[in-house]
Amino acid sequence: MTATIDSELGMTEVELNPLCVPVERLARVPEPATGYVSRTNALGLNRSDFDVLDYAHRHAYNVLIEGPTGLGKTSAVIAWAARNGKPFYAISSNVAIDPSQLFGKFVPAGLGGFRWQDGPLTDVVRYGGVLLINEINFLPERISTVLFSLLDARREITLLDHDGEVIAAHPDLLIIGDLNPDYEGTRPLNKALRNRFAIQMVWGYDDAIEGQLIRGTSLHELAGLLRRAQRDGDVDAPVSTGMLVEFERIATGLGLDAAVANLLNHFPTDEERKAVAVVVEAMADNLATDYAPKGA
Ligand SMILES: Nc1ncnc2c1ncn2[C@@H]1O[C@H](COP(=O)(O)OP(=O)(O)OP(=O)(O)O)[C@@H](O)[C@H]1O
Ligand SMILES: [Mg+2]
Repeated sequence: MTATIDSELGMTEVELNPLCVPVERLARVPEPATGYVSRTNALGLNRSDFDVLDYAHRHAYNVLIEGPTGLGKTSAVIAWAARNGKPFYAISSNVAIDPSQLFGKFVPAGLGGFRWQDGPLTDVVRYGGVLLINEINFLPERISTVLFSLLDARREITLLDHDGEVIAAHPDLLIIGDLNPDYEGTRPLNKALRNRFAIQMVWGYDDAIEGQLIRGTSLHELAGLLRRAQRDGDVDAPVSTGMLVEFERIATGLGLDAAVANLLNHFPTDEERKAVAVVVEAMADNLATDYAPKGA
């Protein structure tokens, strides 16, 4: 239920709760994602990430995105929500999460009374928007089983702590879960949960995207060498798109030495740092050319 009110910004559409009181939404429309580079082969060839999310949104299909850390899963969802003006909320899953952190709880409301306050998941289900469930494989069973009815054809949640209130999902709702692949030591995703995602995309680090985000050809080569070292088992941690973007920013802002030191610090063991340092050393001249201080 919405109403149009006269606010400082002119006429604004606001959500109303069932008692017709304007609602302070937890989910917010993200700022436009100006630097986002869309993935062109998100599902098979020639289907962009936005094409797939548009389609899923139209048909109320849930979407699962699987891929290693720092390749743009969260960025893609935020960029889509921003482009379409949809309120967005991301939930971080962990095994110790309390249901009230997602569904809501009773809070003191003066004069010794209490009132119900929706949690972020309830907010998006009730009023619509984009719900991203990060690392969905880490959701404890006591929560994922409550989500089963939201993720299948019923599209509803039951708030056990709120007198069993049943909320039919808002028609303008897109639910996305993401997870890292098994080889990163994560928990496998429960089959019943996985089957509730009609659309499942598996993404890898993408040369075309990195080609647009990063100017230094030496950094592309370095990434290729470090990824090969990871495949060969010399280093455990993957070099992510995010790390490359950071490297270039730091090289430009604080200098190449700082960027290299920062890169090495991303690898947790001395052994890995040494292996990475050897690869960086082999590229040192080219990196110095690409990231020479301005005016040098
Ligand atoms: N397509 C892209 N366009 C612009 N920036 C990107 C893109 N992909 C990755 N990045 C950069 O990489 C960083 C990490 O991306 P993001 O947080 O979206 O990765 P992720 O896949 O969600 O990682 P995680 O699994 O660790 O949550 C971003 O902050 C951004 O700088
Ligand atoms: Mg993420």
